[in-house]
Amino acid sequence: MNAYKIIDHEYDVVVLGAGGSGLRAAVGLSEAGLKTACVSKVFPTRSHTSAAQGGISAALGNMGEDDWRWHMYDTVKGADWLGDQDSIEYLCKEAPAAVLELEKYGVPFSRTEDGKIYQRPFGGMTKNYGNETVQRTCAAADRTGHAILHTLYGQALKHNTEFFIEYFALDLIMKDGACKGIIAWNLNDGTIHRFRSHITIIATGGYGKVYYSATSAHTCTGDGNAMALRAGLPLQDMEFVQFHPTGIYGHGTLISEGVRGEGGYLVNSKGERFMERYAPNAKDLASRDVVSRSIAVEINEGRGIGKEQDHVHLHIDHLDPKVIDERLPGISEASKLFANVDVTKEPIPVVPTVHYNMGGIPTNYKAEVLTVNGSEKTVPGLMAIGEAACVSVHGANRLGSNSLIDLVVFGRAAAKRAAELVKPGMKHDEIVKSETDRCLERFDSLRNSEGSNPTSELRLSMQKTMQSKCAVFRSEKTLKEGVDEIRKPYDGMDSLSVKDKSLIFNTDLVETLEFDNLIRQAITTMDSAYNRKESRGAHAREDFPKRDDENFMQHTLSWCNGSKTKISYRPVHRSTLTNDVQYFPPQERVY
Ligand code: FUM
Repeated sequence: MNAYKIIDHEYDVVVLGAGGSGLRAAVGLSEAGLKTACVSKVFPTRSHTSAAQGGISAALGNMGEDDWRWHMYDTVKGADWLGDQDSIEYLCKEAPAAVLELEKYGVPFSRTEDGKIYQRPFGGMTKNYGNETVQRTCAAADRTGHAILHTLYGQALKHNTEFFIEYFALDLIMKDGACKGIIAWNLNDGTIHRFRSHITIIATGGYGKVYYSATSAHTCTGDGNAMALRAGLPLQDMEFVQFHPTGIYGHGTLISEGVRGEGGYLVNSKGERFMERYAPNAKDLASRDVVSRSIAVEINEGRGIGKEQDHVHLHIDHLDPKVIDERLPGISEASKLFANVDVTKEPIPVVPTVHYNMGGIPTNYKAEVLTVNGSEKTVPGLMAIGEAACVSVHGANRLGSNSLIDLVVFGRAAAKRAAELVKPGMKHDEIVKSETDRCLERFDSLRNSEGSNPTSELRLSMQKTMQSKCAVFRSEKTLKEGVDEIRKPYDGMDSLSVKDKSLIFNTDLVETLEFDNLIRQAITTMDSAYNRKESRGAHAREDFPKRDDENFMQHTLSWCNGSKTKISYRPVHRSTLTNDVQYFPPQERVY
């Protein structure tokens, strides 16, 4: 018997998370007349989408010819043939309409001289199936995510989405394999809330904070992913962690790929533009995995910059200051603030930094969560979108600016599908009391921990292990050590210390719940990486340097119960949705 005050709610649909995908779904659901709650641990406009800088991809063709099929080809190639091509077709075909809809909602995009949405070049975005760089990334200066997030929040309020802000979600309510809602803790007054819903949409973002150095906000703890694991569901392709080539050295803050899109370039300690050697055609605008690996090689071979020779330089000091002012004001400010660099005069010190999780909760292109063991059956009542989901359009490596478009295209798709499945005001099932008890027992036991290991120490140990053992380059040795070491902070929870026992804005407890979520994802990431004996996209194995399509053109599925994992695989979708485009068979990937 628990002693918590429980408040019950009934909604047609509950959206968990208020970033770009969650808000876009909420707008569509509310527009369709469904009673919609959006539950978020942070104020919506503080969601991590606000940190997205360079832009959102869509083949609008505002700056010259473009075609969604070229975008699809680039995405398939960028993903190193691990993406599901039906989902990629859906993404790229729907992208132009989704961006024009954002424009209509009021997103303040930068403009061309004739008033169209401004589009910049981005890594791996080409025309004519890889022959020439294309300008496909729609930008609001270098604050595109911020602009989209604020606009979508306004739209959601306009359409009467009901917000539950600063509510920390604890677990899914499951019954006979179906999702019936969520349980959340109101940080503001300490009450526990049970949200019953016909569909729950997980939109909780990535889990970048399993690493020590990441462009991710402190809130990026993949809470929804961990809730799926605790519900007995698998996560997919967790070994694919994207390192953005240009995080500010020593600080990790993102310096947008838009900088290279506007003409910026990288140099090593010899002043060489080294990308010419690794990607003779695309150079600094090769895909992120290629650029990050190239920087790592330069550093490993002694051509890094600085006392420790551990970073490289990004130049934009040759650009017209007016262009910098107009199109890159955010990164100019960040460079001054975090590296004390005036970008009009000096280069920015940068290093590859964890930025994005290609892996997550497996779904189909309608955002429905898939069940287990390679089947394409869906979990009734459960959807996932955005970085929390693995739909899988990004496969082994996401192209820059394909994240924001993923958020809005699949946020919209989830709302559409939910409106087909749920009628407003449908009756709810009985409350599942055992699920509430199970959830609150975990909450209670973490809250009342009286051991000797502070959460901050366990978290640091996890982050350092991930940073050193599951980095840009991996090997049997580092991963085997990682598989053993990453379990130590998990085991450390047996003697956890949570000093603050209160229920109101207890950040000690919030961080502990977040750590419990993070460590499960760290373990699945390490184990999935250990088991993939090939190199593909962001997963670069020194001992298996080649892609192995015969054995590994498959999605990894990983279940995690405590610190035990089970790994299995499911086939990559090798067909398209319609006859508008043909399947792109695997090729050698060169830029
Ligand atoms: O570099 C950037 O502006 C980041 C964009 C993205 O991750 O899509």
